[in-house]
Amino acid sequence: MTRVRVRKAIIPAAGLGTRFLPATKAIPKEMLPIVDVPTLQLIVEEAVAAGIEQIIIVNGRGKGTIEDHFDVSFELERTLRDRGKKELLAVVERISQMVRIVSVRQKEPLGLGHAVLVAREAAGDEPVAVLLGDDLYDCDGRRPAIGQLIDEYERLGQKGVVSLMEVPVGQEQLYGIVSGKVLADAPRTMHIDDMVEKPAPGTAPSRFAIVGRYVLPAEIWDILARTKPGKGGEIQLTDALKELAQKGGGCYGLTVDGTRHDAGDKLGYLGANLAWALKRDDLRPGLLALMRRLVQEHN
Ligand code: UTP
Repeated sequence: MTRVRVRKAIIPAAGLGTRFLPATKAIPKEMLPIVDVPTLQLIVEEAVAAGIEQIIIVNGRGKGTIEDHFDVSFELERTLRDRGKKELLAVVERISQMVRIVSVRQKEPLGLGHAVLVAREAAGDEPVAVLLGDDLYDCDGRRPAIGQLIDEYERLGQKGVVSLMEVPVGQEQLYGIVSGKVLADAPRTMHIDDMVEKPAPGTAPSRFAIVGRYVLPAEIWDILARTKPGKGGEIQLTDALKELAQKGGGCYGLTVDGTRHDAGDKLGYLGANLAWALKRDDLRPGLLALMRRLVQEHN
């Protein structure tokens, strides 16, 4: 079998974002900013930094702002140029030059597995990286999260790899949970033998949850195409991954070396904004002073 490098990434961004209503009535949650950069742009930058050459964004209804954001904006660029705003111009121009981006439409949000499947034609049945459009990893100074998964995929002989996070007791029912065995020579990697999507309280096989990043071998396409609706009537990516783990070429989990922020959740989103702002010299001193004042006022 020919070995194909992971060159393409899919970013599902077609969910309804109900947890952020009313903000997400007209704006996709993936476009909500982390300080002044849309969440989705940070995720595209992660993929590019990991060596991805083409990005397929899965859009839903009313997601035109996503396409506009990554497209050239002649009027804005001309105005910035005329006004001599060179730095801002460079910031805006860089976005449309970053990487080749195509978008595909998921007509109805029928689940994450379905969102990935609608990108099949654009992906051309190749192995793919998948980065959820509302999940951020901060891996400053280290290999980007999706790059860590791609490295493990190659090291393991092109096997499926998903990112794992140990979640607090009682939160297992919010995630896809895996069970398996940690590798003796790689303590961050687990050979997965089972998976369950949102297990009922008290039934989870472990506290290791699948979160936001996946590298999938080309074998996943046929599996996804025959995956029936599961939990919540949605086509679950977890169900397809379970088949890959148990009847296909196998699946592993990697605990990424970095900090994950769930930007699809209110507290996670606020935390991501604070974490990214605190990294910036222009914002850190003012933000720390503001936080000290707010803590005092609310104590
Ligand atoms: P979520 O379950 O967090 O997204 O999916 P959601 O349904 O929009 O969120 P809430 O609960 O209503 O607030 C994780 C990622 O998968 C995408 C979402 O856009 C998000 O980036 N997704 C989910 C799709 O693209 N299509 C789907 O059918 C479901």
